[in-house]
Amino acid sequence: MITHEFDVIVVGAGGAGLRATLGTVEKGLKTACLTKVFPTRSHTVAAQGGISAALGNMGEDDWRYHFYDTVKGSDWLGDQDAIEYMCREAIPAVVELEHYGVPFSRTADGKIYQRAFGGMTTHYGEGQAQRTCAAADKTGHAILHTLYQQALKHQAQFFIEYIVLDLIMENGECRGVIAWCLDDGSLHLFKAHATILATGGYGRTYFSCTSAHTVTGDGNAMVLRAGLPLQDMEFIQFHPTGIYGAGCLITEGVRGEGGYLTNSEGERFMERYAPHAKDLASRDVVSRAITMELNAGRGVGEHKDHVYLHMEHLPVDVIRERLPAMVELAKVFAGIDATKVPMPVTPTVHYNMGGIPTNYHAEVVTLENGNPDNVVKGLMAIGEAACVSVHGANRLGSNSLLDLVVFGRAAAMRCAELITPNQPHSDVNPESYAPALARFEKIRNANGSKNTASIRLAMQKTMQSKAAVFRTQSTLDEGIAEMKVISDSFADLGLTDRSLIWNTDLVEALELDNLLAQATVAIHAAANRLESRGGHAREDYPQRDDENWLKHTLIWLQNGNVKIDYRPVHLYTLTDDVEMIPPKARVY
Ligand code: FUM
Repeated sequence: MITHEFDVIVVGAGGAGLRATLGTVEKGLKTACLTKVFPTRSHTVAAQGGISAALGNMGEDDWRYHFYDTVKGSDWLGDQDAIEYMCREAIPAVVELEHYGVPFSRTADGKIYQRAFGGMTTHYGEGQAQRTCAAADKTGHAILHTLYQQALKHQAQFFIEYIVLDLIMENGECRGVIAWCLDDGSLHLFKAHATILATGGYGRTYFSCTSAHTVTGDGNAMVLRAGLPLQDMEFIQFHPTGIYGAGCLITEGVRGEGGYLTNSEGERFMERYAPHAKDLASRDVVSRAITMELNAGRGVGEHKDHVYLHMEHLPVDVIRERLPAMVELAKVFAGIDATKVPMPVTPTVHYNMGGIPTNYHAEVVTLENGNPDNVVKGLMAIGEAACVSVHGANRLGSNSLLDLVVFGRAAAMRCAELITPNQPHSDVNPESYAPALARFEKIRNANGSKNTASIRLAMQKTMQSKAAVFRTQSTLDEGIAEMKVISDSFADLGLTDRSLIWNTDLVEALELDNLLAQATVAIHAAANRLESRGGHAREDYPQRDDENWLKHTLIWLQNGNVKIDYRPVHLYTLTDDVEMIPPKARVY
């Protein structure tokens, strides 16, 4: 075991992880960033449409409008203090990105270009805001590369292709992590005063998703194994426009630039479901509308199981300048020329609103002795891994890149307040990480009859069919029963490679173990919530029920059994600069 001592450890090198890494090294803290993939291959690289901030470059805007849209978009499950923080800090955070060197697209007068996105309005729902700052349709790529270059410039230390196995917890505090280096097979103990989990979502619990294969929610699973809860895991976002068959993302930016959806009758059906916002209604609304069109037999194609997204009417220079990657994706994954014919699309799992509960300083919180905001010392979470909760029951497009940057930055600022550079570390008791090593050895030596791929496929098919866009008690209960059998089958896993060097057989098995835990808690949380809100649409409980369900779900998993409790939603703002928005009916 090789021991390292750092002020701060960041686990994950996507947009959130790199922004936190850069922020902490800029503040003089000795920081290690541990990542299982090369930083610029992190999933943020696939983010397309842009990052929201009320800069007002293309027309009137105000961060208070952004706040209003985000609270409403969250279906009132978002914490309004955290939403205020995010929407206000969006402006300096994006200007900072520009100064770091992100190559944003430009307006004719040289300002950052901003496009329209779903649910983004001016004057509290009156007009359509152009708030999404874009670098063509490769905004995540532009941000990720810039942040990595800046972190290197500031001498951040990267431990690349290191698999973090577990948190080291002592007396309820996080002391660091245990990690496995793929390159030489060595095991490492990283001590830190703050451990920041930036490990992304759990999209790969599903069969069809826009997430990379590496999106296995490893940090979330570590938190569950540490005996801490996850929050709002039932809220899973389906993006309306995944490419039919392949699942990969076609950006909402297509509709923001004037694209639209049609059914088999050539009808622009969103005009019926959302007469005001139409194709730019929020994602939960558009995904449900497509699903209802398919269920009504108005899908296109041989199996009538998808709809068309049109951009062939857009001017060629708009497509070339603003949406070039969409033409490539449509060609590769659908075999069509999207400048001439519509793209076949269908709702696809895209984002997890739930995750590790935190406050807006990025500190992990848990329910303890009746206190729902009890801070877990030494542990932070940011990005899709975290549930701050700024997205509540449904995230607005382009608020994700924003969440990564604002809370990566907030975590760094909090670390600078709490930690003196190079303050000494106390000893770590080997018993604190013995269970992590035992789990690792058990999986490495597993010699049962099932392989990782077959168990993973069974989990993905169950989640896809039993925790879909529309849910009922019976489908969810069937899903719970199936997930139990699938999770239990992990005990019969067999690996063929027992080496320690670049053992991808073992990596995938460790990731599967993480995914199984999240699929289990997500489907239990969905069966438990007896209402429809945001991304959680129950056919048997079609209304939002604020009287009984205006609360966050907390869920623990111990020895295969779940425990559920709740935290109140923060229905208050951080300052008097903005007014709290009381729950009300949604009008589209
Ligand atoms: O459609 C998109 O470009 C996705 C953006 C987002 O999820 O924020």
